[in-house]
Amino acid sequence: MTNRVFSGAQPSGNMHLGNYLGAFRNWVRLQDDYECLYCVVDLHAITVWQEPAGLTHQIREAAAAYMAAGVDPARSILFNQSQVPAHSELAWIFNCVARLGWLNRMTQFKDKAGKNREKASVGLYIYPNLMAADILLYKATHVPVGEDQKQHLELTRDIAQKFNHDFGADLFPEVEPIIQDEGARVMSLRDGSKKMSKSDPSDYSRINLNDDADTIAQKIRKARTDSELIPETPDGLTGRAEATNLIGIYAALADMERTAVCADFAGKDFASFKAALTDLAVAKLAPVTEEMTRLMNDPAEIDAVLRKGAERAQALAAPIMAEVRAAVGL
Ligand code: ADP
Ligand code: NA
Repeated sequence: MTNRVFSGAQPSGNMHLGNYLGAFRNWVRLQDDYECLYCVVDLHAITVWQEPAGLTHQIREAAAAYMAAGVDPARSILFNQSQVPAHSELAWIFNCVARLGWLNRMTQFKDKAGKNREKASVGLYIYPNLMAADILLYKATHVPVGEDQKQHLELTRDIAQKFNHDFGADLFPEVEPIIQDEGARVMSLRDGSKKMSKSDPSDYSRINLNDDADTIAQKIRKARTDSELIPETPDGLTGRAEATNLIGIYAALADMERTAVCADFAGKDFASFKAALTDLAVAKLAPVTEEMTRLMNDPAEIDAVLRKGAERAQALAAPIMAEVRAAVGL
């Protein structure tokens, strides 16, 4: 059996450095060893309110970010979820397989719904069932996930197992996570205890992939740090979340170990470190930003890529969906 990867990001706003270092860059590498599907998960995005006028643009921008980072639509299948209706169809069937108790245990729903749970959409609650459908619709065998999605992937495995058991079908494979290392987690530039996120109201908390050099410089200059110097080894970063984050970003962008970054900058203050980090970030991100801009100037090209990707995804999904329907008796 082929090893098949499925992954995606929500088109819910600006794609940022965290998405790039934590997801896209890794997706690009996986293209060498797996058959990959990279999806713009627009149906996930609408579990919270999205301005309709902005959403179409955000979908294209997400696709442009994938491509600008190096996802090759000739090798990988790049598409958006809502163009392949089988995602919704399989998600409904999984709504009838998953148990209420399983979903009640999902910590991300509790985090995202916050205190006002009664006001959360039902879609936000059953989001993990749609994620299971995304993956299993293609019998994907591997899913690159961050720490925060591990629980959802466990649920995917539970749904696959229960489906196979209930319908006496050996239909869905066991999905394996490809766990990203801790270093791939990029934190907010304003608060080292929070993940860099599209949904953070402060634009200074993140570096967006469409930020120009001046904006990147300004954001790094304003990034929170402490008054201590860069330590000789990463041990000296203990308890210093913001410093740890900036060193980690440098290491990830330069493809270096943190140990080597600390050794290079030992004894320097953050003003000089930030200047070096700015140069590095601008050098690494400028080509990505340029390519995104070029692509966004030609929306028809992006739409054509997505349409072609949806056709290829649909072709893979159709026979699997037929097996599912037969197993259920539909
Ligand atoms: P979510 O935040 O719900 O995981 P997103 O659509 O925002 O999903 O993110 C898409 C991908 O980018 C995911 O693989 C996620 O793990 C990764 N990602 C998002 N934010 C960060 C971050 N701050 N650091 C590292 N990876 C991130
Ligand atoms: Na996010």
